[in-house]
Amino acid sequence: MLNRFKRRLRRHFIDKGVWPIAFAPYGNNPFEVTPGEVSKETYLDLGRKARKSIPPEFLQNVEEAFHSLPQENFIHDLALSTQVVVKQSELLYLHGYLLYGALRTYVDERPDQKTFNLLETGTARGFGTVCMAKALADAGASGKITTVDILPSEEAIYWNCIQDLDGPRTRIELLEPWKDLVENHIIFLQGYTNIVLRQLGLPRIHFAFLDSGHEYETLKMEIEYVAKRQQPGDVIICDDYDKAQFPGVVKAVEELLSSNEYGGRLFKGDDERGYMYCRRRNEV
Ligand SMILES: C[S@@+](CC[C@H](N)C(=O)[O-])C[C@H]1O[C@@H](n2cnc3c(N)ncnc32)[C@H](O)[C@@H]1O
Repeated sequence: MLNRFKRRLRRHFIDKGVWPIAFAPYGNNPFEVTPGEVSKETYLDLGRKARKSIPPEFLQNVEEAFHSLPQENFIHDLALSTQVVVKQSELLYLHGYLLYGALRTYVDERPDQKTFNLLETGTARGFGTVCMAKALADAGASGKITTVDILPSEEAIYWNCIQDLDGPRTRIELLEPWKDLVENHIIFLQGYTNIVLRQLGLPRIHFAFLDSGHEYETLKMEIEYVAKRQQPGDVIICDDYDKAQFPGVVKAVEELLSSNEYGGRLFKGDDERGYMYCRRRNEV
């Protein structure tokens, strides 16, 4: 009980970006699953269940909107290392399909654009960022995704995933099977977004996926940072658009959409989870 309270308190301060990075929960076991306690079969089983729970309507909606979906094997192999974890809520990695489809369309619609700047906040194990890198690669585009998290990329830790069975590893090692995508397209930065973004100096962000702290203040700051650097047609996707669980996410996104600078489309995963696709309007 006390531990749960402490965890919630820590999460709250992490979301606010005020928990000192020195005490950030990355130790070498940030996800708090005792290494060795979960078997390979358990992770494989969770992976099979997650794969079966993908709602076909969601894929249809993404395909209708964006005309392309990632290869099934790519998504599920990547998810097994980066999304299939032991946690209380249901495993659902639909954002991979949405990020891939929306970015492919964005790139395909701009054949004269030489390179693309992307931003992700909240890297975790790297699922979202590798999906976006794959979309760039499949479209034959050049571009860089800057992705920010308080978790490190080059310290060996346990990630609460199937690869933990072979010992702790860095994020770069975890993503070794997707090495080419990582090398060509991804820049990992460590720190709180409210500090790192100020130091970035990105002049333009064509496409952003915002998925770090789910508090209102954190997302509001990230949205403002990105919106200042976007032009008509540019995109912001926000994860976890769910009023019951993440009222701060919904409030920050609604404020963006109410300004009328962006049009929004909600992609609903299940009763609880949605992803808001926001596109900067041509005329305000
Ligand atoms: C929901 S996960 C991101 C999932 C990831 N986008 C994916 O596709 O797998 C949220 C991540 O945000 C990080 N995070 C939370 N608050 C943050 C903040 N204020 N600044 C940077 N990272 C933060 C957490 O450490 C966690 O790894």
